[in-house]
Amino acid sequence: MWVSLIVSHLTAGAFVLRFLTPPRRRPAHRAVYVARLEDLPESESVVVEDLRGVPVAVVREGTTIRALSTVCTHLGCRVRWEGNKQRFFCPCHDGIFDREGRVVAGPPPRPLDRYEVRIDKDLVFLTMEEPA
Ligand code: FES
Repeated sequence: MWVSLIVSHLTAGAFVLRFLTPPRRRPAHRAVYVARLEDLPESESVVVEDLRGVPVAVVREGTTIRALSTVCTHLGCRVRWEGNKQRFFCPCHDGIFDREGRVVAGPPPRPLDRYEVRIDKDLVFLTMEEPA
């Protein structure tokens, strides 16, 4: 009887421990096709959504493609690409990010989130995090 009591308590303890400390999983990522290189206008942005619905600005300069979240890191307003000034601008509190997404002016505490870009035979793919 004592043995079964101890085993049942240990089993219950293991379940409680597992509940309190769930295993950490690394988020899965997937390369998603967004456009053909020739369909991306020079120095302008094309906005696509990532797998979680976050709008992403894809900007082409020659063969260089940048993909940045358009969600401002201050309070979450939408930033817009201003190709003539080579910057992202947030109209809510005049936040300014350079073309790499780094904060130049205003209250945003950190750069815009970036997406890895891969070009394969003239096709542009972004690496996106899978929804949980
Ligand atoms: Fe963008 Fe405040 S929300 S600067």
